[in-house]
Amino acid sequence: MADHPPIEAYDEIDSTNAEARRRAEAGEGGPVWITARRQTAGRGRRGRAWSTEAGNLAATLLTTTDAPAAEAAQLSFVAALAACDLADTCLGAGAAQLKWPNDVLVFGKKAVGILVESGARADGRLWLAVGIGINLAHAPTDIERPATSFAEHMAGPPPKPADAVEVLAGKFESWRELWATQGFSPISAGWTQRAHGLGERCEARLPNRTLTGVAEGMDPDGALRLRLDDGALERITAGDVFFGGAT
Ligand code: BTN
Repeated sequence: MADHPPIEAYDEIDSTNAEARRRAEAGEGGPVWITARRQTAGRGRRGRAWSTEAGNLAATLLTTTDAPAAEAAQLSFVAALAACDLADTCLGAGAAQLKWPNDVLVFGKKAVGILVESGARADGRLWLAVGIGINLAHAPTDIERPATSFAEHMAGPPPKPADAVEVLAGKFESWRELWATQGFSPISAGWTQRAHGLGERCEARLPNRTLTGVAEGMDPDGALRLRLDDGALERITAGDVFFGGAT
């Protein structure tokens, strides 16, 4: 397993992403993993809340990059692949799939969410907070989309968050090294191999409109290719995608 940055653990915090932001704004560059047993104000994509009960994993990698923002955002796919690897380790190969842009589904239901935040540092480089929430032990019941936990699919107890983050950080480092040395292409290939719903109809809810069509695959920059009913191709760069069954 690849060496990974140090891991710092809090018992309780508002949000590991918020802590990464505070540290970045105070000049800290990482890399460091920040984890917490409980988050009191965990945040999700598009302004949603993310609940973290004890037994689940909340972890954020604070790091600094020379890459431009659009390229740095590709680390969200690196995070998704690392979380998928962790799921494979716990549940067996094939249990987990990736839903664009970077949800991890376990047997078709969301078990992992990823939120990447970033900002400019005083030296002009970019800080990144790669936040990963994993339902190891519990799944929330109060969200509009079906969710699951690793525990629901394991005969024995799920991994402890402290053990899971070690595996996750090592897997992240392996994929990150590939990305740093070979670019996005191996990441895109890894994502495509594990993608949920390619070739299937879906609804893409974008910030200002909703489109339906067939998810064809990922473009070289991470955009989702959506074939509309009139045959036109749309590149989806931001939004949520729903396949049948509301996933
Ligand atoms: C999503 O909406 O799917 C993204 C959820 C991201 C949750 C993680 S938990 C660790 C980190 N800290 C946060 O406050 N959010 C992210």
